[in-house]
Amino acid sequence: MPAPDLDTIVSLSKRRGFIFPAAEIYGGFANTYDYGPLGVELKRNIREAWWRAMVRERDDVVGLDASLITHPSVWVASGHVATFNDPLVDCKKCQMRWRLDHIVEGQYGEVKRDAAGNVLCPNDNGELTEPRLFNLMFKTQVGTVADEGSVAYLPPETAQGIFINFENVVNSMRRKLPFGIAQTRVSFRNEITPGKFVFRTLEFEQMEMEYFCRPPKDRKNPVEYLALHRQWIDARLSWYRDVLGIDAARLRLRPHEKEELSHYSAGTTDIEYLFPWGWGELEGIAARTDFDLSAHAKQSGHPITYFDEETSEHLVPWVIEPAAGLTRTLAVCLIDAYSEEPDEKGDKRVVLRLRPNIAPIKVAVLPLSKNDALRPAARKVYDLIRPVWMTQYDETQSIGRRYRRQDEIGTPLCVTIDFQTVGEKGEPGDDAVTIRERDSQAQTRVPISGLLQALREKLPGC
Ligand code: GAP
Repeated sequence: MPAPDLDTIVSLSKRRGFIFPAAEIYGGFANTYDYGPLGVELKRNIREAWWRAMVRERDDVVGLDASLITHPSVWVASGHVATFNDPLVDCKKCQMRWRLDHIVEGQYGEVKRDAAGNVLCPNDNGELTEPRLFNLMFKTQVGTVADEGSVAYLPPETAQGIFINFENVVNSMRRKLPFGIAQTRVSFRNEITPGKFVFRTLEFEQMEMEYFCRPPKDRKNPVEYLALHRQWIDARLSWYRDVLGIDAARLRLRPHEKEELSHYSAGTTDIEYLFPWGWGELEGIAARTDFDLSAHAKQSGHPITYFDEETSEHLVPWVIEPAAGLTRTLAVCLIDAYSEEPDEKGDKRVVLRLRPNIAPIKVAVLPLSKNDALRPAARKVYDLIRPVWMTQYDETQSIGRRYRRQDEIGTPLCVTIDFQTVGEKGEPGDDAVTIRERDSQAQTRVPISGLLQALREKLPGC
């Protein structure tokens, strides 16, 4: 099925409790979103899948949770104060504000130019002002006196918290190269052109890992370093495909051109997804060399090195950084899983084909109807499943409508309790329930005594 349009996803997200526009009762607050009961579960499940793949299942990566309020010098050393700027231009005719690099990349369609080759406004071909640089970091103030010395920045990435803790982790965890430090956390950017739902927001979550390795023997031709970069690119691409179940045909790798490399990078490859509006970045895997550790050592005056017992020398490790957006990945999961198909009556059946490991609700317990005779058995089944998996109980509306509702929120399995379960007209029940599968709509009857085992087999990785 072709990608759904964004409005369909935005509307489903709000209707079903995934993502709400923030502060709606105050008329909304542009480009900020609140995650509803299902969104927060989906987000946690994606983060957990990442943490499992990057930390728990590896013996060479450890975790970190660095403070958000960061020493101001960190952002000087990292280059963010001086270079984390976007070139802003305004149209002299329609007054619209644009990011020049986005126009030149063709993000607003064909690039229009005047006779002298100057780029024109994508809206009305108007003349644009000279670009002005705009720093994307949010400033805040620490302490009660607002002066130059009280300025602090909200972190625009999680990476720097990792670099400034490199020595702490080496010493406390007795790590040997190569090893990584992983962190998932909120980041803030005062984006000039936010939008496209949660694709680009002011506040978003990232999942980043800095993988430290020996410096290459030849800095100009770092063969082993580039091979490690490649390994991480492949590992990360397969995570989207194999763990999140994203359609491989909608994923691609895009190495950065030299001109678009970040100030710290010797090479970056993006993992891109085919969004409803075209290809867009999902994760960047950057070869950051020793830029950050060296910069922090210089700025702080505190040498940051690693003592290599093999060669008995102090060295500055080089770094590979897979940096993913959690909230952006969540949007991809919703878009990629969305499907519409005709049901047996010819009506539209909307199904969110999320992998069970990330689905917010794993099992829905549904008595056939709202009937006092069914409720005790249904509640018993609910109590049995709830401690093991995220479970929802629902007895309102017809069973068909409740199946549709669960399909639309991506619940892989429904368990139905009917009169055969509890017995009727004096006949004993069979103490069995029906498991209904979201994707195939296949139904299987299983005894309640074997229900947990049957569900476990149908919920791999959950
Ligand atoms: N430490 C490197 C770094 O931050 P980045 O490419 O700027 O690299 C990594 O960000 C990922 O974070 C992006 O691939 C994207 O998924 C996500 N991201 C960046 N800016 C974002 C924004 N304004 N809103 C949502 N996600 C964003």
